[in-house]
Amino acid sequence: MSTNQDESASVIELDGVTPFASGDNRLCFRHPNHPDRCIKVLREGRASSLHASSPFYKRAMREAYFDDNRREYRAYQQPAIVRGNVPYDRHIAHCFGWVKTTLGDGLVTDFVANSADMPAQTLEAYVGLYGLDEPVRKAVGEFCEFLRRSLVLTKNLMPHNLVLAEEGEALRLVLIDGLGLSTVLPLAKHIGYFARRHVEKRIQWLNFRLEWEVSDRSVSWRETEKRFRFRGVPLAHQLKEI
Ligand SMILES: Nc1ncnc2c1ncn2[C@@H]1O[C@H](COP(=O)(O)OP(=O)(O)OP(=O)(O)O)[C@@H](O)[C@H]1O
Ligand SMILES: [Mg+2]
Repeated sequence: MSTNQDESASVIELDGVTPFASGDNRLCFRHPNHPDRCIKVLREGRASSLHASSPFYKRAMREAYFDDNRREYRAYQQPAIVRGNVPYDRHIAHCFGWVKTTLGDGLVTDFVANSADMPAQTLEAYVGLYGLDEPVRKAVGEFCEFLRRSLVLTKNLMPHNLVLAEEGEALRLVLIDGLGLSTVLPLAKHIGYFARRHVEKRIQWLNFRLEWEVSDRSVSWRETEKRFRFRGVPLAHQLKEI
């Protein structure tokens, strides 16, 4: 997953180009030479402001540690993805490596489009409009099954970091941000039991979060999350989603 050979020498002009979306940390552009890919660059000054506001024990880290793009790229190097026993592209945006842009290093991944070739809707936006209807429950169930089979490690699965690809009447969930481990000890990377535990916890958390998304939200998410209790790794016949 190195820098694309054909693009390594040239710098992609992004000054004055409107991103199709942006998050707290990155700007997302459609790739000018590959419309089915996107380029993500760090928002200006984002790594240095995160560095400055971090707790003292993290401040010793270099600024690159706070670069979301580099962290995501490292997360793509996790054993479950590199070994490739379970193909990941259907549920995690494929990573094509780095390009140089006028806004700094850009990470290139699949662009997930809807049927009108516009950015696919996030899971958050979808459930806000339609609730947890049958197609989306099915898509969530399939995505969770993929995580259990592949044991790809993710951070908490925020509904705005999952988008919905359309396949006829059906929907397919694709993670576009939030790969990797946020825990200090990387046990889950190397030991199956901890990987299963980690994945199951993310799945239970996602289902808990989705129930909150469709609730009346009279209790804030911050308060609600305090009530989240991991129920452990269930036996295979007990696995059941929302
Ligand atoms: N590959 C993609 N295909 C389609 N839409 C995407 C893709 N990547 C990002 N988006 C859209 O852009 C938004 C922001 O992207 P992304 O989550 O990567 O930015 P971020 O700054 O890392 O986010 P956060 O605020 O979660 O830290 C997403 O919520 C999604 O709506
Ligand atoms: Mg995001």
